[in-house]
Amino acid sequence: MVERAGRVEGKTAIVTGAGSTPGPGIGTGKATAVALAQEGASVLLVDLFPERAEETRRMIEDEGGKAEVFAADVTRAADCEAMVRAAVDAFGTVDILVNNIGRASLGTVVDLSEEEWDKALDINLRTAFLASKYAVPVMEEKGAGSIVNISSISALRGDGTIAYSAAKGGLIAMTVDMAYSHGRRGIRVNAVAPGHITTPMVKSVSQPGPQEEFMDTMRSEAGLLGTPGDGWDVAWAATFLASDQARWITGVTLPVESGVLSVTPLMMAEHLRGVPAPGA
Ligand SMILES: NC(=O)c1ccc[n+]([C@@H]2O[C@H](COP(=O)([O-])OP(=O)(O)OC[C@H]3O[C@@H](n4cnc5c(N)ncnc54)[C@H](O)[C@@H]3O)[C@@H](O)[C@H]2O)c1
Repeated sequence: MVERAGRVEGKTAIVTGAGSTPGPGIGTGKATAVALAQEGASVLLVDLFPERAEETRRMIEDEGGKAEVFAADVTRAADCEAMVRAAVDAFGTVDILVNNIGRASLGTVVDLSEEEWDKALDINLRTAFLASKYAVPVMEEKGAGSIVNISSISALRGDGTIAYSAAKGGLIAMTVDMAYSHGRRGIRVNAVAPGHITTPMVKSVSQPGPQEEFMDTMRSEAGLLGTPGDGWDVAWAATFLASDQARWITGVTLPVESGVLSVTPLMMAEHLRGVPAPGA
């Protein structure tokens, strides 16, 4: 049998938000960190709650991979600068940055407070700006690097999350602008736009019971495939974009959403109507 190297063999990756909200399933950052390690990368696991990232480290080390935990608030510039330094100190460089931190918040322009708007932009957009600010110079110095921004289909379709949508749309704009600005220095910048996936964070805001089962089924039925998606689906897409197999791909947003962006809602009505209402 031919021995094959992993797709990101010998590379160093930083994944922000590499822990996961506690609960069943796996978050996108945690899954991406594990997938990158499985493909040969050494990973700096960055999270506001280091105990969450420790769990990710255990998963990686149990499979023989290499990872370090770094506790940081990625909305803070000093923490981002220290995070990049920590990756260089631990593993020698930074080849891959996955900007994964984000949190949805409901609200329209009328009912969302200014404080909530600022918070949403800080968590969903500022984190990617600051992490990139310090990672890009390290990549530029050696003329190679790959950045993957985790956006959302909320940036592309209305769903009543004004600040989250604006921030995730901003992330797509940032992806294109960074791809332009740093392409000639060997840096590729792409985004993944997850759809209605189920992660522990999604579970943490739903009431356990029939309503939760109903929503789980509706998320599956809303897509063309009629199957559920989770953090791994985002992880595999992000790992591909991070790897040299995507060496000629930059500035794109890859939807990972079971095709919901490829259909009109009317066409899905029969599938969604077929789901029994909770308690029916
Ligand atoms: N879950 C979905 O349905 C869905 C859909 C589309 C996009 N996304 C995007 O995927 C990403 C991850 O979602 P998830 O459901 O896996 O979330 P998650 O909450 O499980 O994981 C995110 C991690 O980020 C950490 N974090 C939060 N703020 C931080 C900060 N300031 N500094 C450092 N770490 C911080 C959290 O502690 C957590 O461990 C987000 O960007 C989200 O917007 C999720």
